[in-house]
Amino acid sequence: MHVLIVLAHPEKQSFNAHLAEKTRQTLLDLGHEATLINLYGEDFDPREADWHYSARKDVDKFDAMQEQRHHWHMKKLPSTVERHISLLSRADAVVIHFPFWWFGAPAILKGWLDRVLVYGGLYKSDMRHEDGSMRGKKALLVSTAGASMQACAPNGRDGDMRLMLWPLMYSLHYVGFDVLEPHLIYGVRGGLVADDEKRQRDQLTQQSLEYQAKLARWTDWPSVPFNRNEDFTDGQALKPDAPVYSPFVRHAEVADTAVQAEISQL
Ligand SMILES: Cc1cc2nc3c(=O)[nH]c(=O)nc-3n(C[C@H](O)[C@H](O)[C@H](O)COP(=O)(O)O)c2cc1C
Repeated sequence: MHVLIVLAHPEKQSFNAHLAEKTRQTLLDLGHEATLINLYGEDFDPREADWHYSARKDVDKFDAMQEQRHHWHMKKLPSTVERHISLLSRADAVVIHFPFWWFGAPAILKGWLDRVLVYGGLYKSDMRHEDGSMRGKKALLVSTAGASMQACAPNGRDGDMRLMLWPLMYSLHYVGFDVLEPHLIYGVRGGLVADDEKRQRDQLTQQSLEYQAKLARWTDWPSVPFNRNEDFTDGQALKPDAPVYSPFVRHAEVADTAVQAEISQL
């Protein structure tokens, strides 16, 4: 198996960089191939914009989707994007390491999706979800939060971290990946001193070992369920008898009534 590891963290000594390197080493030890790309390290520009495109279809008005498709077909995508796409194409799996920043992915990672998941090439209307270009490949998010596990729980003060990562996981599913349950590590805080710092270091060492042990059992890792194309009507509404896997895609009336009932009790 060949695994592409994507690191979205500005600091080489960060816990996220440490975990990305552990992913690489663990996979190599298991006899797999692994390639690590460090988005900050290679100064990846996360801004999707006209200046990346050398053979514009329309020079008067920049339409990102149209230019992506055009440059894909012309084989004139920006060289970085082309390289990342060929790494994705070659990989059987991708592991993405990032800190949870403002309740989502850091901008550099969001921009990586904006630019590298090229319309017309990696997805189009008849090539997405279970028919997506990345079908058969696995994708795993590994993310750290500063807040505690309880704060990031569904009933926690900061809200459900796993649910906040749903748009990112759905984007990967959109292009066809089999998305694995994200590996989330909580309470990763900087600026600690003395005993607090030592306690934190010991906890992170333990977390890192647990993650490596879990990664070694890669094939047992559960997937995140998503609705299949057949669960939707031609008008793209969830069929009444279709299963619900996320509050983001739900039987609207039932869910909204339940939420309203809870709110009205406040
Ligand atoms: C810009 C920024 C935004 C952050 N937003 C959140 C957040 O929304 N929730 C949270 O729990 N921690 C947040 N944090 C804390 C980071 O998640 C935490 O510092 C990081 O996961 C620690 O891992 P590292 O040592 O690899 O950087 C934020 C930190 C920064 C710098």
